[in-house]
Amino acid sequence: MIKMFFVVPILLAAAGIAWAQGGMKKKKPLPCEFGSVTINNYSRQAGMPPVVFDHWVHRQYYTCRLCHVDLGFGMTVGSTKVRAVDNMKGYFCGTCHNGKMVHGGKRIFESCTKEYTREEYNRCVKCHTLERSAVKENEFYRFSKKMPNERLGNGINWEIAEEKGLIKPVDYLEGVSSKKTNLKVTSDFAIKTKVEGMPDIIFSHKKHTVWNGCGLCHPEIFIGVKKGTTKYSMVELFEGKYCGVCHDKVAFPQTDCQRCHTKQTQE
Ligand code: HEC
Ligand code: HEC
Ligand code: HEC
Ligand code: HEC
Ligand code: HEC
Ligand code: HEC
Repeated sequence: MIKMFFVVPILLAAAGIAWAQGGMKKKKPLPCEFGSVTINNYSRQAGMPPVVFDHWVHRQYYTCRLCHVDLGFGMTVGSTKVRAVDNMKGYFCGTCHNGKMVHGGKRIFESCTKEYTREEYNRCVKCHTLERSAVKENEFYRFSKKMPNERLGNGINWEIAEEKGLIKPVDYLEGVSSKKTNLKVTSDFAIKTKVEGMPDIIFSHKKHTVWNGCGLCHPEIFIGVKKGTTKYSMVELFEGKYCGVCHDKVAFPQTDCQRCHTKQTQE
């Protein structure tokens, strides 16, 4: 058996290296920047500033599944290759940002158009942004003040926010989402850490399914036919694989060890 006090410092070092390798981008983000992605496959070339997409804005209204399964957004930044014409045709951002869909009594502002006036350019730069905006930061802090606190990530405990009904992310858009097939949810299970003294992980299938459906994890991230088929280690997680596909990037970060390693091991 490997003793925990040898392993933990090594892992913390590994986490440090993983961050360092990411360069500037991976340095610990501010709460308002956590889960923020910069999409820049075509904008710069076309003379537009890159697009900044904030998860905190959107995940309060919609489930992960809705965007990442029904609307087809990829799980790595830049992978979707969204074009202005796609948005204009009503795909991707343009599914909602079409100037027609109503949200909270207001029309959601339209995305890309070929022609635009000087005033309309103000709309473009809501998405095509270069600088950090103080207005947006203030909006974030106003929002997060109403949410249950958490140490890391956005500084928000999204799970409790949902449990308390402070946010109610929708999982279905009329005319866009396919009718759901209700697959049976398998029960929660413990993942053993194989390291003495390190608490096991309790993984809630049920809770993850509410946010992610099944298709976000199976079969791409986890084969999931049988528990134990996929072998993973903490170092791989820090490299952004398995649980690390979401945790660190959008869901709470992996430096929050005890939120996963919750099960006390029996002596
Ligand atoms: C709701 C968000 C949103 C708004 C508003 C928006 N865009 Fe875009 N736009 C995008 C995204 C996402 C991309 C893909 C970015 C990338 O990969 O570089 C994009 C790409 C583009 C491109 C790159 C060329 C191409 O073929 O894809 C141009 C040009 C563009 N937008 C113009 C505009 C103009 C002009 C406006 C304002 C009239 C505007 N956009 C408003 C989201 C938006
Ligand atoms: C409104 C739509 C929307 C919602 C809701 C949403 N996402 Fe995303 N997500 C995106 C877009 C757009 C991207 C960027 C994709 C691209 O650049 O190709 C993205 C990217 C990501 C990435 C990659 C980040 C990176 O740094 O590479 C992860 C991980 C992710 N999302 C997880 C989640 C999780 C977990 C949830 C739910 C808590 C969620 N998303 C909710 C639209 C959404
Ligand atoms: C499933 C619907 C949906 C999709 C898809 C979606 N959005 Fe949004 N977005 C919203 C809603 C709702 C709001 C909040 C209402 C508003 O500001 O009009 C919002 C707000 C925003 C804001 C304004 C945040 C602020 O500063 O107030 C930006 C910027 C934005 N979205 C960018 C994007 C980009 C870029 C994409 C695509 C990569 C995208 N959105 C895809 C629904 C969506
Ligand atoms: C956040 C990711 C995630 C989501 C969402 C998810 N799963 Fe899983 N699932 C896992 C992991 C992790 C395992 C364990 C796999 C392993 O260790 O090899 C697993 C294992 C399984 C297994 C094998 C269980 C066993 O006891 O051997 C089945 C069956 C399964 N999942 C079905 C589903 C179904 C059906 C849904 C949707 C209702 C779903 N999963 C949603 C991550 C997820
Ligand atoms: C597809 C994205 C995704 C993957 C993959 C994923 N998670 Fe999560 N997880 C989330 C989201 C979203 C939340 C909600 C909390 C948040 O966003 O901070 C969450 C919450 C949790 C929680 C707190 C809720 C609870 O179950 O008590 C734990 C613990 C957790 N995840 C563990 C894991 C473990 C362990 C794995 C890998 C086996 C994993 N997650 C893989 C998205 C993901
Ligand atoms: C998102 C959930 C999550 C978080 C957060 C997390 N872990 Fe893990 N950890 C796992 C999973 C899943 C495994 C793999 C279990 C297995 O199959 O061995 C694991 C395994 C381990 C192991 C066993 C050895 C190994 O490499 O597999 C150690 C030690 C460990 N984690 C330490 C840590 C430390 C220290 C932190 C905080 C810096 C941390 N973990 C944060 C999910 C998490």
